[in-house]
Amino acid sequence: MVKLAIETELDRAAAFAREAERIAVLTGAGVSAESGVPTFRDAGGLWEGYAIEDVATPAAFARDPRLVWRFYNLRRDNLRSVRPNAGHFALAELENRCAHFALVTQNVDGLHRQAGSRTIHELHGNLTRTRCTGCERIEDRGLEPLDDVPHCTHCGALLRPDIVWFNEMLPAGIWESAETAVAECDVLLVVGTSAIVHPAAGLIHTAKQFGGRVIECNLEPTAASSLADVVLLGKSGELLPRLVNKLG
Ligand code: OAD
Repeated sequence: MVKLAIETELDRAAAFAREAERIAVLTGAGVSAESGVPTFRDAGGLWEGYAIEDVATPAAFARDPRLVWRFYNLRRDNLRSVRPNAGHFALAELENRCAHFALVTQNVDGLHRQAGSRTIHELHGNLTRTRCTGCERIEDRGLEPLDDVPHCTHCGALLRPDIVWFNEMLPAGIWESAETAVAECDVLLVVGTSAIVHPAAGLIHTAKQFGGRVIECNLEPTAASSLADVVLLGKSGELLPRLVNKLG
């Protein structure tokens, strides 16, 4: 019987993963799409309904914190009804099977942790956390409803979401750990990202530069596909469990 093309690609990816002593994973919004979390740049994505410069820059927050908080409070509300999907669980299982593993995510939804992943580098922050613009205190508020424009209970200053906005640096320690994990990996699995937002997307080049193999899993070809050794085209919630099952 002739093997389907995707089966052949899954076999190749599994062979690379089996040989690898160190595996790193880079995820983007696509891994959470099947959980019902909107992506950014697909049809109906968040950046179709909102302008980045209105809700996701320091200048936007300085100009209109109420509008920015409305955007993030809606996203926080949406997370209440959301659960990890089979793709998140497969990545947690992959970590169990690999001695040296790191998951680097651009996502701020916390679903990898809920699914059981342990070594997580959250490059862009997390929706559950607030950061005080006065005393810098970071608090995990879970998904409890926040005021329209919340203020710090300690110093009274305005709170902001603990999210990395455009024109801001990534948290230094987290970025360095992520970069090291990717530079050292034998395989980088890139899942559900359009791979156009830097510096995160640069990690794919880092993996290649240091001799790692790149496996991409995405609905469609992306900016990363030309660098990938294997491209798995399809839904991560379907393909990642199949990939992990093949590891035996
Ligand atoms: P994007 O919305 O740019 O890309 C999502 C990718 O996931 C697209 O390539 C989709 O084809 C793919 N995708 C959608 N559903 C999928 C599925 N079920 N399985 C596999 N792939 C699927 O999201 P990101 O690349 O994560 O940053 O965006 C990167 C950053 O840009 C975000 O972290 C955010 C955004 O602006 C900040 O807000 C700082």
